[in-house]
Amino acid sequence: MFENIKKQSCYGNFLNGQWIYSDKCLKIYNPTSKELMGYISQMQPEDVDKAVESCKNAQKTWGNMPTNERAKILHKAANLLLNNQDYIADILMQEIAKDKKSCLSEISRTADFIKFTADEGERTIGEALNADNFPGVKTDKLAFVIREPLGVVLAISPFNYPINLSVSKIAPALIAGNSVVLKPPTQGAISAMHMVEIFNQAGLPAGVLNTITGKSSEIGDYLVTHPGIDFINFTGSTKVGKHIASVSKMVPLIMELGGKDAAIVLDDANLEDAANDIVSGAFSYSGQRCTAIKRVIAINSIADKLIDLILPKVKELKVGNPKDSTITPLINDKAKDYVLELMNDAVEKGAQCLIGGNHQDNLVYPTIYDMVTEEMRIAWEEPFGPVLPIIRVSTIDEAIALANKSEYGLQSSVFTMNINNAFYVAKRLEVGTVHINNKTERGPDHFPFSGIKNSGMGTQGIRYSIEAMTRRKNIVLEYN
Ligand code: NAP
Ligand code: G3H
Repeated sequence: MFENIKKQSCYGNFLNGQWIYSDKCLKIYNPTSKELMGYISQMQPEDVDKAVESCKNAQKTWGNMPTNERAKILHKAANLLLNNQDYIADILMQEIAKDKKSCLSEISRTADFIKFTADEGERTIGEALNADNFPGVKTDKLAFVIREPLGVVLAISPFNYPINLSVSKIAPALIAGNSVVLKPPTQGAISAMHMVEIFNQAGLPAGVLNTITGKSSEIGDYLVTHPGIDFINFTGSTKVGKHIASVSKMVPLIMELGGKDAAIVLDDANLEDAANDIVSGAFSYSGQRCTAIKRVIAINSIADKLIDLILPKVKELKVGNPKDSTITPLINDKAKDYVLELMNDAVEKGAQCLIGGNHQDNLVYPTIYDMVTEEMRIAWEEPFGPVLPIIRVSTIDEAIALANKSEYGLQSSVFTMNINNAFYVAKRLEVGTVHINNKTERGPDHFPFSGIKNSGMGTQGIRYSIEAMTRRKNIVLEYN
């Protein structure tokens, strides 16, 4: 099924319906075993030109294809993905050291995403407006507001969900009639290329989906400033997102960036439930999720009790190999070094380590710090690792103020049994989504998902993504 996507252990790029290979390759190592997994093609700016041009040409026919035919191809891709779930999950597990169970669920969730998107796309219709309800209009007119594709979408995805966060851009773009250039993460590109082959085998016409792998330092700016790109849909770090926003030229952008999601625990919360959510929210995939709980803000009167409930659950987390553990090696040494830097800073400034604090190579043990203060970097920075700070406050308003002091604004949780307090907090938090009595998380994937402040701009979520990647065309009929 996947024999064409690599040549002598170097994975190719998909261009105009063919797998092509570069003479230069980049090495991809397994973060767990540190063994070489394979190579990916190191494409150059001239390859970017070819990918964009091919997308531009193919989009014209694809955009005119009836939506129900585009939807059939998407459904076929979803089914093929499910048929190959276990095989691709194994590759994903090896490439990004995500636990096998989560790899399997990333793939089934992606198949569901594609199917829902295909159906939603078939329901996407425009609207008709009467003119005569605007003051002074004397003639009879109707506006037919229809949706048109934007053209060529550039999708850039991060390492932590190389399949899901690629498809969450590709599928809505395609159903809306756009073509897509995918720039997958370097670490994650092998998994992403398997997903691309699935779309190929589902019958996607040549040129509708092209890929570019390589060094961001060589092709990044060239890609995001390419005049043939009509929309950039980026998920990744705030640093790279800001850079792309600063160099890109007059194209609409969606930016899904970093986060510092807070779990605010009030004094009347169900602490057992809150503890369960905090542990799974903070530590699944070793905290390498944009929506991971990255700080707990607890009312002091219940903080000790909450900690007593959290610690045994953290002790139960399995640490080690992604085949059967929740806490797995971090994606690379740079990520591990950064996490350790934040941990050392916290300890130096007086944080109390309740559990963890140690590591073996890039496997960082689940770590919790209590008595974290605003002077510590861990109170503000996104570790993208299994490290959770607890900050104690005295009042609800203090909790809200502290949560809002962050540069980020992705999501927050509030745990309380008092609905008035829940809404009091929810309405004051400066984030895209507030979860009441639930951990922060992206799904279900048809919900709107947006970050504010340094967490991004624009809204994803199936219908919202389709809307973002289409423009309104107004056709006015004067009929008397
Ligand atoms: P990253 O380093 O910013 O990379 C993201 C993507 O951008 C990768 O494909 C990367 O390619 C590419 N890239 C890097 N520099 C580029 C440039 N100059 N021009 C064009 N593309 C460039 O992020 P990451 O480490 O993969 O992911 C972790 C970050 O993503 C965290 O901060 C996390 O919070 C954030 N994230 C946010 C969300 C959300 O929905 N808000 C979801 C997931 C992750 P290379 O791999 O080749 O460098
Ligand atoms: O890392 C960012 C993902 O979009 C988060 O999705 O909340 O389902 O893990 P998740």
